[in-house]
Amino acid sequence: MQTADASSFIITQEPYYLSTDNEVKVFEAASEAKLPVMLKGPTGCGKTRFVQHMAWRLKRPLITVACHEDLFASDLLGRYLLQHDETVWVDGPLTQAVRMGAVCYLDEIVEARKDTTVVIHPLTDDRRILSIEKKGEVLSAHPDFMLVISYNPGYQSVLKDLKQSTRQRFVGIQFDYPDAENEARIVASEGGIDAPTARRLVTLAGKIRNIREQGLTEGASTRLLIYAALLIRRGIELKTACRTAVCQPLTDDERLQETLEDLMADLF
Ligand SMILES: Nc1ncnc2c1ncn2[C@@H]1O[C@H](COP(=O)(O)OP(=O)(O)OP(=O)(O)O)[C@@H](O)[C@H]1O
Ligand SMILES: [Mg+2]
Repeated sequence: MQTADASSFIITQEPYYLSTDNEVKVFEAASEAKLPVMLKGPTGCGKTRFVQHMAWRLKRPLITVACHEDLFASDLLGRYLLQHDETVWVDGPLTQAVRMGAVCYLDEIVEARKDTTVVIHPLTDDRRILSIEKKGEVLSAHPDFMLVISYNPGYQSVLKDLKQSTRQRFVGIQFDYPDAENEARIVASEGGIDAPTARRLVTLAGKIRNIREQGLTEGASTRLLIYAALLIRRGIELKTACRTAVCQPLTDDERLQETLEDLMADLF
């Protein structure tokens, strides 16, 4: 059998994360109580960064899996592979995390195939076991193993929503865009721009988030503001940076683009 080296999943440098509520404390308590955690919130608001930061804080390896509609339970568990005329078992990311005591982060869990929930259930209640049927092995999770899932409630159709029996196995932490002052600090720090310019980007985002009813599926994310900042830092003029890094990615609707242009004209 091939086992992964935990050290390659350890985050050695502190990932910058500005806490905006009690999420750090709640996560730490959940980890101590061996409870799995569900992070909910819109795209680009800091969920992934938070998990990276927490894994660093707890000094645990972090194994991330981006879930998608073709992801089967076997992709998480592992499979037999043919190597030099021999069949060897290779652990999947979830099995690796369960063995080594890592934080396993399943990003966009609702996208995954339904059979993944079967695997997750015994891991996320007080049994904390992983059953690898193909191998006939039942693994007890390492004491440091922690399961974290994330999803964006805004995108989900009823069909794709998590089942109650799955949801009710997690502690849920709601994420949202940080308040204006904190968001400006994040944009200035991550984008390497001055505070007044960061505040202007955040003001624009606030206006855009207010017009969501007019047809935008989601507001401008903190991530997009950072993109704009990164362009500005390289000499791109403010308005052009906002147009290309914030407005264009948001929508293809011409009428909405005009509304966004009007918002910029008012502000800048
Ligand atoms: N509180 C925060 N502290 C520091 N950086 C932040 C914070 N919130 C957001 N960011 C910045 O915003 C970027 C986008 O955040 P992140 O990738 O964590 O979003 P996400 O919520 O995981 O989005 P998605 O659902 O699309 O995966 C990060 O790379 C980071 O630069
Ligand atoms: Mg993410």
